[in-house]
Amino acid sequence: MKDLVAVILAAGQGSRMYSGLPKVLHSVAGQPMLDHVLESIEALEPERIIVVTGFMSEKVREHCGKRAVCVNQDRRLGTAHAVRQAIPHLNKFKGDVLVTVGDTPLIQTETLKELIKRRRAHQVAATVLTTELDNPTGYGRVVRNRDGTVRKIVEEKDTNVYEAAIKEINTGIYVFDCQKMLEALRRVGNKNAQKEYYLTDTIEILGRLNDEVEAMVADDPTEIIGVNSRGDLARAEAFLRRRIAAAVMEQGVTVIDPATTYIDKQVQIGRDSVIQPFTILQGRCKIGEACEIGPHAHVRDSVIGSGSNFRYCTIEEAEVGDNVSVGPYANIRPGTRVGSDARIGTFVEVTRSSVGDSTDILHLSYIGDAEIGNRASLGTGSVTVNYDGKRKLPTKIGDDVFLGTNTKLVAPVEVVAGTRVAHDEILTGKIGSVSPSASGTSKTKARAARKRR
Ligand code: UD1
Ligand code: CA
Repeated sequence: MKDLVAVILAAGQGSRMYSGLPKVLHSVAGQPMLDHVLESIEALEPERIIVVTGFMSEKVREHCGKRAVCVNQDRRLGTAHAVRQAIPHLNKFKGDVLVTVGDTPLIQTETLKELIKRRRAHQVAATVLTTELDNPTGYGRVVRNRDGTVRKIVEEKDTNVYEAAIKEINTGIYVFDCQKMLEALRRVGNKNAQKEYYLTDTIEILGRLNDEVEAMVADDPTEIIGVNSRGDLARAEAFLRRRIAAAVMEQGVTVIDPATTYIDKQVQIGRDSVIQPFTILQGRCKIGEACEIGPHAHVRDSVIGSGSNFRYCTIEEAEVGDNVSVGPYANIRPGTRVGSDARIGTFVEVTRSSVGDSTDILHLSYIGDAEIGNRASLGTGSVTVNYDGKRKLPTKIGDDVFLGTNTKLVAPVEVVAGTRVAHDEILTGKIGSVSPSASGTSKTKARAARKRR
């Protein structure tokens, strides 16, 4: 949008969070609240986004990076005082200023866009986003004129009994004509219950300057939930999760039970995949079509092909191909790549390894720092002995290798393609050949290895 600048107020500590972390950096659905707000605003393509920082400003500034210009509010003297810190960036600006708070993570782009359009269409000095709440406790109340325009906003601590009974509340999100806002800001004082400079006072001041202010009532009050406590955080989380699950279902994914499914905002899932209960999909995950995920799957920052199924397992920072089955009770750790049609079975842990196409590791195995070819079969209890107390050492297993039950691979070790190894072997060095009786070779090596111990 042209002629638009956004200001996000994020200087507060959030004292009711009882936290060492700035409030806006607390996460909802897998990412800090501030990121949710930034994303909604970035989609509007404003000319500039200004974030007002204060409590642990360095941390918030670092977090924003290039996404916003940060201005510091040294002392928290109120929301009007916070916006004043942005004046150097607004002085000459003639367009709209969208002012939002950093603690409303559910706010959506469409709502903000509508708010801006309204102000522009009706040519008023400001449009305030409001909503009606059965329990308006804690919010500023919206007092209207007879003609429906907004007369003023009264903070809860400053309300009289009549005002306290008003159900229409200020969401803390506004669009102002920039120059008019600056004029009103100069006149805001701090004669109120909290001795703060309230941004909300600009509304009454604009009225006195013969300018009109309108309200736009948000249909969905959940969108403007302001997070002030850990309880609010959990509520926002629940609403956002429900919204994400609904969006995922819209795209042709079955979510058996949204109430026990936790999908982060960045997760992408292909159509006809089924998400079973008690499943957590975190971070940046990309999951293909027709997968069956869960019950009890925890997948984080991973790319998964189509037609794969995961039950009772953990998969982190991994890449998994098509038609792979994982679990029950498997642990795929960071740096693992699993090819297509592979099977990772019960009580198998794989870390920093690649597993080729159609390879089976079905029971009771630990595979670390290994490179395993295609169509290999690792018997029950195959274990890489990859750590000598100081270093992690590599294991290489070629295509079509067959390892019998209880094979120990003492790294560094290489099992040549096509080698078949009987059960209970301890392998080290280079093992096997392409000859049909390859297991004899491995036994010799195995004996040698045992002697060395
Ligand atoms: C504010 C509004 C209230 C509205 C509510 C919606 C005012 C005076 N009141 O109240 O009408 O119903 O939001 O959630 O604006 N902040 C600063 N610097 C400051 C003070 C606050 O940056 O000096 C930031 C906070 O970090 C926060 C936001 O402004 O992100 C709102 O501040 P907060 O103290 O939570 O205001 P509320 O009392 O919730
Ligand atoms: Ca608040």
